[in-house]
Amino acid sequence: MSAEPIQRDRYAVVGNPVAHSKSPYIHAQFAAATGERVDYDRLLAPLDGFVEHVQAFRAAGGRGLNVTVPFKLEAHALANRLSPRAAAAGAVNTLRFDEDGIFGDNTDGFGLVRDIEVNLGVSLKGARVLLLGAGGAARGVVLPMLERQPREITIVNRTAQKAHALVEQFEGAAREFGCLINGGGPDAVYRDPVDAKPYDVIVNATAGSLDAALPECDARAFGTGSLAYDMMYGAEPTVFMRHAESLGARASDGLGMLVEQAAESFFVWRGVRPDGAPVLAALRKQLAAQA
Ligand code: ATR
Repeated sequence: MSAEPIQRDRYAVVGNPVAHSKSPYIHAQFAAATGERVDYDRLLAPLDGFVEHVQAFRAAGGRGLNVTVPFKLEAHALANRLSPRAAAAGAVNTLRFDEDGIFGDNTDGFGLVRDIEVNLGVSLKGARVLLLGAGGAARGVVLPMLERQPREITIVNRTAQKAHALVEQFEGAAREFGCLINGGGPDAVYRDPVDAKPYDVIVNATAGSLDAALPECDARAFGTGSLAYDMMYGAEPTVFMRHAESLGARASDGLGMLVEQAAESFFVWRGVRPDGAPVLAALRKQLAAQA
C-alpha cells in the first residue's frame, strides 16, 4: 500500500535579492514546532516583474507570501484588501491569498513591539519613545507602537519635512491612544531636543546602519535607563548600538523583530501563533558563529 503524499501549503518570501533571507529557516522552524503542514521557499522576482511572479505563484496554488526589499510598495498596491496597520504603513510585507482575493498586511511594527515588550521586557505603555528616521521603515512601526499607549513619541529625521509629515499622518491616532506625538525641534533633526531628558526607548529606523552611518542624535537622549533599538542586525553590533552603549544605554539589534514579524505573518496565514523565542535563540547562535 503506497502512502498518499502529505499535502503541504506553499508559502515563500519574494524579493530581489532574496538569497540571504532567513525567512525560510524561520518558517521551517515554526512549521516544525506547530505541526502546521507548510512549505516555504525563496522567490527571486525580477525588478520589473513583481506582479507577474506573485500571480504565477498564486496560480500554482501558493497560499501566501512575505514581501521584502524592494517590493513592499508594489505589494501594497496589489492587495485588494488591507489591514489597518498595512494601510497606515503604506507598505505590505505579508500577502495572503484566499477566497476573497489578495489580503495585504504589515507585521513589521507588531514584530518590533513584541520584541521590545516580550523578548526585551520593556513596556511601551507610558514610555517616552524617540523614533529616528521617517522613511518606510519608520512609518510601518508608528501605529503598532501607538496601540501600546506610550506617553510620547518624538519623530526626528535628517530631512525635517518627512518627520513632520509622519507626525501629521498619525496625529489623529495618537490622540485616540492618549499619546503626545511631535516632530522634534524646528529642524526635526535631534539637534535641538524638545526635552533634553533620556528617552525610555530610542528606535533607529534609518537606513544608516546599512553603510555604518550614525544618525544625528543628541547624546542627552540616551541614559542608563534607555533601550536603544536598531532595526538592523548583523554578526557585530551596529554603530548605533555601540554609540548607545558608550552613552550608558542598553542596546539591541533587530534580529528579534525579524523573528517576531515572521511569527505574526505565520499567524495571519495559519491562525496559529508560533513561539519566537527558541528560533531567535538559534539564529543568535548562528550569527555569533559568523562573528
Ligand atoms: P526605509 O524604507 O528603509 O525606511 P527610506 O524610505 O529610503 O527607506 O528611508 C530611509 C530613512 O533613513 C530616511 O529617514 C533617511 O533620511 P532622509 O529622509 O533624510 O533621507 C534615513 N537615512 C538614510 N541614511 C541616513 C544617514 N546616513 N543618516 C541619517 N539618516 C539616514
